Amino acid sequence: MHNRDTFASKIGIVAAAAGSAIGLGNIWKFPYMAGKYGGSAFIIIYLLAILLMGFPLICAEFAMGRKARTNAVDTFGVVTSKKAWNIIGVVAVLTVFLISTFYIMITGWVIYYFVTTLTGKLYHIPVGIEVATYFDMVFNTMSSSMWLPLILALIAVCATGFINAMGIQKGVEKYSKLLMPVLFILFLVLIGYSTTLPGFKGAISFLFQPDFSSITPSVIISAIGQAFFSLSLGMGALITYGSYISEKENIRSIGAQVVIADTIIALFSGLLIFPAVFTYNLEPTAGPALIFMSLPQVFLKMPGGQLFSALFFLMIFVAALTSLVSMLEIQITYIEEKTKWSRKKATAVVVAAISLGSALIIGGEGPLSFITITGKSFFDSLDYLTNNITIPLVAVFTAIIVGWVWKKNAFNKELAKGGHEANTVDHFFFFLLKWVIPPTILILMIALLLG
Ligand code: PFF
Repeated sequence: MHNRDTFASKIGIVAAAAGSAIGLGNIWKFPYMAGKYGGSAFIIIYLLAILLMGFPLICAEFAMGRKARTNAVDTFGVVTSKKAWNIIGVVAVLTVFLISTFYIMITGWVIYYFVTTLTGKLYHIPVGIEVATYFDMVFNTMSSSMWLPLILALIAVCATGFINAMGIQKGVEKYSKLLMPVLFILFLVLIGYSTTLPGFKGAISFLFQPDFSSITPSVIISAIGQAFFSLSLGMGALITYGSYISEKENIRSIGAQVVIADTIIALFSGLLIFPAVFTYNLEPTAGPALIFMSLPQVFLKMPGGQLFSALFFLMIFVAALTSLVSMLEIQITYIEEKTKWSRKKATAVVVAAISLGSALIIGGEGPLSFITITGKSFFDSLDYLTNNITIPLVAVFTAIIVGWVWKKNAFNKELAKGGHEANTVDHFFFFLLKWVIPPTILILMIALLLG
């Protein structure tokens, strides 16, 4: 056995797990997905998915991880006593590897916006160019080139690797505890400003006025996939963090805090971005470019905007970093335990592999953009594949394993450890894991496939 580090405190676990959950998924992806899939319809499903699927699955992943105390792949074999189930863990780890390759690209974009804010370049608008066109151009020029985004992505992955190499307590836990509160405060300030924009009302009705007409299987599965992505589910992250949680902790209460923090930040991000979108007549369906094109326009007009811009992109970077740390952790723990390499060596190999994969993804946005998979770029294909297929599939099998193979006694016993007696919520969660989550997701996936 290699030395397994553990979290030192409950607040440390919550910060790290919330740090994993809160990331680009909340601030960058949630708003553009909501924009693409019709706003409120998407958000209603998203919230239901968080509560009725995400929360029980977080408890399931934490419980399995803590019980098995091993890497995300072997956990499946250990809790079921059947090695064949490891295949689900393999899909989970592959999924997280693929996600890491584009996640560092986006993190690189964030670094670009941070640095160009600091140098003043971002807000130095040439005369004669319309502001919206200018920010459009900045984004497209940067994201479709090769070397700059690649170098920035490498900086992102190396910074992450550096933290991972230091270990759980001295790396992950320490940084998460420090930076997560700052993120919340900054969000509040920025939203305060957003409420003063004329587009605020339009944003509220776009985000929260129920409109059931746009609900389709594809909207539902995308919302569920996004809920899981945002909570870091279906990729072995919470299994891996669960394996570092002590037996005296109450898994449900950690899960509840992660759910609340993650959901608040996602909704806050919507409230931050859509008023700007409606004020400046931008397209809510702009996709991955949304925050990079909309927010700079707000910052440009805001008193002290440049300072807020710098803080904002720094915060997204921090949020992305704590998520990346958990992504690397899954892969590092797996390799470390399989090969018995040192943590540093395993980290270096994972960083190198992600960097190579990322070069392909970045090329696909630029010089290699002529290569497409069913009309989609590499990045879009991977995003689609992971969000709509592999993440939901791993989640389904996690639910099946807990509900049908591991069974109620084992699940309840794990949750009750440390004197936290089983309660009605546990029974309800078990019911959802056994009877509701697998059929719902499977039916939707089949509908999507046939549709
Ligand atoms: N939950 C993260 C986000 O919302 O940005 C993304 C993520 C983290 C995915 C950790 C996978 C993972 F293992």
